[in-house]
Amino acid sequence: MYWKKLNHDEIKSTIFKALAENVNYREKPILGIPGTYLDTEEFYDDAPFLKDAPYMSAMIANPNHIGCHTLGDESLSIFKGTQQIEIDLIKICAEEIFKGNKNEQDGYVAPGGTEANIQAMWIYRNYFIKECAAKLNEIAIVYSQDSHYSMPKGANLLGLHSIILNVDENLREIILSDLENKINNASKGGIKYFIVIANLSTTMFGSVDDVNVLGGFFENKNLHFKIHVDAAFGGFIYPFNNPQSLFSFQNKYITSFTVDAHKMLQTPYGTGIFLIRKGYMNYVKTEEAQYIPGKDYTLCGSRSGANAISIWMILRIHGSDGWKAKMSMLNDHTSGICNKLKEMNIEFFRNHYLNIIAIKSKYISEKLANKYYLVADSYEHKPKWFKIVVMPHVKKGAIDQFLSELKMEQNNL
Ligand SMILES: Cc1ncc(COP(=O)(O)O)c(C=O)c1O
Repeated sequence: MYWKKLNHDEIKSTIFKALAENVNYREKPILGIPGTYLDTEEFYDDAPFLKDAPYMSAMIANPNHIGCHTLGDESLSIFKGTQQIEIDLIKICAEEIFKGNKNEQDGYVAPGGTEANIQAMWIYRNYFIKECAAKLNEIAIVYSQDSHYSMPKGANLLGLHSIILNVDENLREIILSDLENKINNASKGGIKYFIVIANLSTTMFGSVDDVNVLGGFFENKNLHFKIHVDAAFGGFIYPFNNPQSLFSFQNKYITSFTVDAHKMLQTPYGTGIFLIRKGYMNYVKTEEAQYIPGKDYTLCGSRSGANAISIWMILRIHGSDGWKAKMSMLNDHTSGICNKLKEMNIEFFRNHYLNIIAIKSKYISEKLANKYYLVADSYEHKPKWFKIVVMPHVKKGAIDQFLSELKMEQNNL
């Protein structure tokens, strides 16, 4: 895994060069595009700081990255300078982080993980309909009970069944007998096509599904299936901390990934990333998008080019080595907290390569959980778990304070 680190000046000049390659609303006679720069009453473009602020300059110039640029179509070529930045960042994610072969993946910057997950389900639904003459009621989405709510949301939107797999209470692993039973029953009930979601970190636990067990199961049964990996949370940390990660395009079971920059990569919201092997985007090509050169392949349509630029800038200022070091620090920090919890005999769940710690709620008073903004597994029922997410803003002092108050609560029990 390698991509080069650039310094601030190199980043600045690359982004300004890309913006200069776009057609500028201020300079060219653009009469037909229903877009323009940001309103100048508030966002004036001669503010002196802008010459040193490539991301803000991109926001003000307001390029639209509608479409999917890795396909190489002539999509809104007036913004081709900054679209090239998006192509570069998709390549870094697909080829370096997820080890795809050169030029064999497509992708785009989506508004978030929800859209990227639904984009995948939409593609596979249409794939099964087109390639296998599947009927809607023969297709199901399969995911664990710990999966993000974008799965039921997607199933609802796309008119598909959901098959929800139970997980072990303590290990948070999919229970294989439940997988076997539910898929056998679904097959008997007429389901023939399975869109399987593998979590590269669930939201609440940071648990990781065994993608090879899932793939092997459907393969051995000779069933039609496609696997999408929801790496919205884990995608920018797990592959860096676990060099043996099975989550890559070299894994034959995996066809696509969601990876959110606006979680671990600390970019602005609006920066989900969708990655997929080449050959699949066409299943969601909207032919009716006649006024868009190159058509549209995404759920969202118009999207800000500044978002793509923010991801590229953060990837490039760290480079792969810098990012790896940063993620390793967060992991060490998380392990330190886990060691303290073990000393206090407090039960918790944590995947060794991730920065989420889910603590059994019986060890923490609600008052303490609320004081430190811990997140509960449910706000409808009595919580069973509270989680800590060791993000870059989580400093040692606050953790020490929390742990000492937790210890006091244990001593008073
Ligand atoms: C595992 C997982 N998938 C998907 C999402 C959805 O991401 P977004 O809120 O960006 O749509 C989240 C958000 O927390 C998540 O944790």
